[in-house]
Amino acid sequence: MHPIHLNERISSMSNPFLKRLATAARLLLFAALIPLSQAATQAPTMTADLHKAKGVTCVDCHGTAKKKTFVAAERCLGCHGSPADLVKKTAHVKPENPHDAPHWGPQMECNVCHRQHEKTVNWCNHCHAYGFKVP
Ligand code: HEC
Ligand code: HEC
Ligand code: HEC
Ligand code: HEC
Repeated sequence: MHPIHLNERISSMSNPFLKRLATAARLLLFAALIPLSQAATQAPTMTADLHKAKGVTCVDCHGTAKKKTFVAAERCLGCHGSPADLVKKTAHVKPENPHDAPHWGPQMECNVCHRQHEKTVNWCNHCHAYGFKVP
């Protein structure tokens, strides 16, 4: 229900107990909405921007292809080391190593999680509940 209509409904209530209950419910509703609206106004930092800041150019990832699309893991690994190196780098991550799932090991396409021009994806959480922060 729209908050303004809710206000009208609450002030027209005659039972003081119901009125207080409705006011409390409305406050809870607003408390739940605030974090959502804040999240919407925060400018996301894309991983491609992070790369740009480190001097990695469009060509480093996309080559000279006119039509830029998805970038294969081999190209990422060209700079970030072997799959085994990557597994080692995140061996300390709790509760599980995102680069060494028992299902796929390090054989996943990087882009499944590390989107470059849009919000990154905690892909494991389709099924698990890991608190990964995917850069
Ligand atoms: C030309 C080399 C190069 C290529 C190609 C490249 N990267 Fe990077 N990447 C870097 C550098 C340099 C940094 C910043 C230094 C660092 O933190 O390692 C970086 C940073 C990152 C980070 C952030 C690490 C952190 O600590 O926050 C991630 C994630 C990442 N790259 C993933 C990828 C993926 C996925 C691809 C392929 C789509 C890719 N990179 C392609 C060089 C490269
Ligand atoms: C299932 C999701 C997922 C996939 C697929 C994935 N990563 Fe990651 N990656 C993560 C998460 C989560 C982290 C952050 C771990 C942490 O908390 O430090 C990370 C961290 C990194 C980092 C920073 C490591 C550091 O120095 O701490 C690099 C570089 C990176 N990934 C590159 C890659 C590359 C290259 C690929 C493809 C071969 C890849 N990742 C595939 C989830 C993923
Ligand atoms: C670190 C590697 C990396 C860098 C640097 C990078 N891209 Fe991308 N780009 C990707 C990946 C991976 C995708 C696949 C979609 C995604 O992850 O967002 C992509 C997709 C695209 C697409 C296809 C549209 C889409 O969103 O699917 C365009 C266009 C593009 N990139 C342009 C650029 C330009 C222009 C630059 C330089 C300013 C750049 N990219 C720098 C990795 C990179
Ligand atoms: C499509 C669903 C799905 C996805 C996506 C998925 N998993 Fe799993 N995972 C499972 C199932 C099912 C099990 C078995 C659970 C059991 O036996 O109790 C499992 C088990 C595991 C286990 C063994 C320990 C445990 O909790 O039972 C680890 C570690 C694990 N997954 C890590 C990962 C990581 C890391 C990712 C992301 C790269 C991932 N999983 C993505 C479905 C998934």
